Amino acid sequence: MTTNEHLINREHKILQVRNLKKYYGTGSKTLKALDDVSFEVCEGEIMGVVGESGCGKSTLGRSVLRLFPITGGEILFDGTDISAMNARELKPYRRNMQMVFQNPFSSFNPKQKLGTALREVGKVYGMKEDRLKEKLSQLMEYIGLPEHMLQRHPGELSGGQLQRLAIARALILDPAFIVADEAVSALDVSVQAQILNLITDLRKRLRMTMLFISHEMSVVEHICDQVAVMYLGRIVETAPARELFSDIRHPYTQALMSAIPKADPEERKERIILEGDIPNAIDLPEGCSFASRCRYCTAECKEKRPELKSVGENHLVACHHIEKAKDIRG
Ligand SMILES: Nc1ncnc2c1ncn2[C@@H]1O[C@H](COP(=O)(O)OP(=O)(O)OP(=O)(O)O)[C@@H](O)[C@H]1O
Ligand SMILES: [Mg+2]
Repeated sequence: MTTNEHLINREHKILQVRNLKKYYGTGSKTLKALDDVSFEVCEGEIMGVVGESGCGKSTLGRSVLRLFPITGGEILFDGTDISAMNARELKPYRRNMQMVFQNPFSSFNPKQKLGTALREVGKVYGMKEDRLKEKLSQLMEYIGLPEHMLQRHPGELSGGQLQRLAIARALILDPAFIVADEAVSALDVSVQAQILNLITDLRKRLRMTMLFISHEMSVVEHICDQVAVMYLGRIVETAPARELFSDIRHPYTQALMSAIPKADPEERKERIILEGDIPNAIDLPEGCSFASRCRYCTAECKEKRPELKSVGENHLVACHHIEKAKDIRG
């Protein structure tokens, strides 16, 4: 858990997302991958997005970077509405928004030296050779790898080393905003911890602003300031990380949280196994989309969709029974 409030500039909103919608398909076959998603990320803040496979995390990351057209809503990047911009209009914003992907082996060209791959990013945006050289050696120091590794090819490095370089590549242009989509999910647990430490270290040095996507609660717990929990295309709970981990309000968050292993066996609490089927995202029920799997479900939940309601500062929950989900981790 982090106490990095001093690194965050609350006055400066880098990203403001309002009622974002991304639908795939049309008519009765419409899949609402994102439905009315709203949140903000301030300068220097790491916002975590967590939820099960298929809930829309990657769609969210790619939508805010405008890698494809969105169906509705607004995306403000540093105050400018980029939601309807075309490729040409987006170009000046692209250098300011970078992405780190899950699999470092597929995000580099295996035939290209790593130095060449990194230099290319700078060159595309007209960075001068001496500036680029300086930037690369600074970044290699930051990510803790010797500069001679830039002479190697991706296949000659470990997954952890390559992911460090993928992070360096995302930082070459000093972007205002980075999306990390499952950036540690493909790595061994010990290597995951190293990369999370690296991100923590880099945010302090560089004031990084980040959307950090992961399907694992235990991963977002360590580095995020604010966390949004997604279920079937919607945010069901969002709160400052410290608060989310001490004052859980949504039964789905509770279930995700119960899956985090506890170090102390004495403290071990009940693990909630989610029962019931995930509704088909193409044909969502009228009420709460979590109703079919929820231990607290009542008739109201099946009929009426709960809206996000404020239960504390920056803490919103969409549930008719918020009083029932309490922190089962103690
Ligand atoms: N190009 C597409 N065409 C149609 N449906 C899509 C497309 N991309 C994603 N989807 C659907 O949108 C939903 C959200 O997918 P998304 O990849 O955003 O989930 P995710 O939360 O990132 O999952 P994971 O944890 O597995 O990466 C899924 O139901 C998926 O099948
Ligand atoms: Mg994904």
